[in-house]
Amino acid sequence: MLPLNIPVIVAGALVPLAFYKFVISPAFLSPLAKVPSAHWSAPFSPLWILWIRYRRRENRELHAAHLRLGPVIRLGPNEISVNDLTGLRIVYGGGFEKGDWYSIFDNYGVPCMFSSWHSRPHSARKRMMSNVYSKSMLHASPVLARQAEIILYDRLLPFLASSTFVESGIDIHETWNATAMDFITAYQFGLKNGSNFLRDVDNRQHWLHLYYIRKTYPYFTQELPRLTRFLKFFGIHLVPLWVDRANRELEAWTKDRCDATVEYLKTSAADEKDIANEPVVMKALLSGMEKEGTIKGDDSVLTNTLLKYPELSISSEMIDQLAAGHETSAITLTYLSWELSRDASLQDALRAELHALSLSPSESTRSLPNSKDLDALPILHAVVMETLRLHAAIPGGQPRMTPYPSCTLGSYSIPGGVRVGAQAHSVHRNPNIYPDPDKFDYTRWMDDQNGYSAEQKKERDRWFWAFSSGGRMCIGSNFAMHEIKLVIAAVYTNFRTYVVDDEGIEQTDGYTCGPRSNRLILKIERAITP
Ligand code: HEM
Ligand SMILES: *[C@@H]1O[C@H](CO)[C@@H](O)[C@H](O)[C@H]1NC(C)=O
Ligand SMILES: *[C@@H]1O[C@H](CO)[C@@H](O)[C@H](O)[C@H]1NC(C)=O
Repeated sequence: MLPLNIPVIVAGALVPLAFYKFVISPAFLSPLAKVPSAHWSAPFSPLWILWIRYRRRENRELHAAHLRLGPVIRLGPNEISVNDLTGLRIVYGGGFEKGDWYSIFDNYGVPCMFSSWHSRPHSARKRMMSNVYSKSMLHASPVLARQAEIILYDRLLPFLASSTFVESGIDIHETWNATAMDFITAYQFGLKNGSNFLRDVDNRQHWLHLYYIRKTYPYFTQELPRLTRFLKFFGIHLVPLWVDRANRELEAWTKDRCDATVEYLKTSAADEKDIANEPVVMKALLSGMEKEGTIKGDDSVLTNTLLKYPELSISSEMIDQLAAGHETSAITLTYLSWELSRDASLQDALRAELHALSLSPSESTRSLPNSKDLDALPILHAVVMETLRLHAAIPGGQPRMTPYPSCTLGSYSIPGGVRVGAQAHSVHRNPNIYPDPDKFDYTRWMDDQNGYSAEQKKERDRWFWAFSSGGRMCIGSNFAMHEIKLVIAAVYTNFRTYVVDDEGIEQTDGYTCGPRSNRLILKIERAITP
């Protein structure tokens, strides 16, 4: 009698099963099978997209794939990407939750609004703070105006004035990092407990160093969470321990500010003489939390998070906002000042527009333009919008999960639990909406110059996605627009800038992206007042 060869029998059964599970099913039977694949291997394995992301080539590769294959493409066995208005409306219009990818934005071990997985707790948080970030509130805020006055006239402009003597030029990205940090932290904690990075060079460099050395490591936690945890268990740290240490130090720095602000509100705020010290965001969050606790009590969707760990949750929210708030604005200011520094006639036209303001920002009078007038300046608005289009500070994918049981994207029916995202890098490069999309052409946004029809303008505005859209859209978009316009107005009314060295200005590829090397050296000169 022949001996039974168990391994052969098992293998004989397993090989076809595996073939079915890993080849036939994903490639032919999965509902995703009909979606065009960005790479031939995408139906069978996530290796291609993992590799592209690891090499930091995601934005350009996905863009090329969308151009080739259309607005809905498959990136892996369980992942797709969309790139048209229908896709944006469906994925970001509600019902698609964020998922684990955003967990790295938890701080102190507790979530913040941005990292909240589900929409109900998310909106409960957002309600507490959206008012202080609304355009009407920001434009009318005497606190923000006073903070801006001090940051611009006591810190930024004197620094630039001293830089006019520096023949070799200055690294402007660092200046914008500092400016954006000072703006957002002043609004959060009040001027006294905010940063003063424009003046305090040592603390600034230490802080920014801690912040940016962590840059490439989220890849492992976000894209390979199980492998990262598994190896960590065996003492292999894909994310080095010093990254954790840097996080802890940044968290401690922020918590000090939160604690000091709470203390200030309890003790000395009542006697305060300077409104610049009002901690607008902290106040809103504290009163929102109190209301949530007293009105909803244990019925609140935040009972087990925000209300259970109030101190850590406040700090988690604040560190997220100062991170989201400074990095993106600084990148935008960097590209905007680069574009202006390359085009002297555009810079002159902008300056003429600024000088025509009834309250142009002058160092001698410390005046700030009226917010509405500033917002309505056509060239200023156009250059900011075109910078946000062409050099979106978050150009990369914003992943969501498809809802159960299924949804429809394009002509495809997609089951629940599939990762799906869009990226501003591609949305902003549709040649039918933005002709010659790689060109910086601010006249796209100047309606008295571009000759666009009403429909063309509408489409142009609908495809603008620098701040995302829907319920999880940027809460700071109005803050960013106002701050950027104030800074550019104050700087370019009084100074002229030229490029000395922009090697490395090319934008990196990934989620939040600044220049490849951090060198943009600008020469600063006094502008001659007309
Ligand atoms: C030019 C500047 C800015 C750009 C381009 C920008 C862009 C974005 C984008 C694209 C998102 C959605 C990201 C995603 O879902 O993955 C977002 C969300 C967010 N941004 Fe901004 N942002 C800017 C400035 C700011 C500022 C100044 C703040 C200050 C508070 C801020 C705070 C936030 C927060 C808290 C969220 C999460 C919102 C939510 O979960 O509902 N951002 N931003
Ligand atoms: C400023 O911010 C960028 C990221 O937006 C970072 O890469 C860079 O290192 C920072 N530059 C300095 C000089 O702090
Ligand atoms: C906060 O401001 C107070 C003055 O109101 C100051 O004494 C304290 O050192 C500040 N704390 C931080 C962390 O900035």
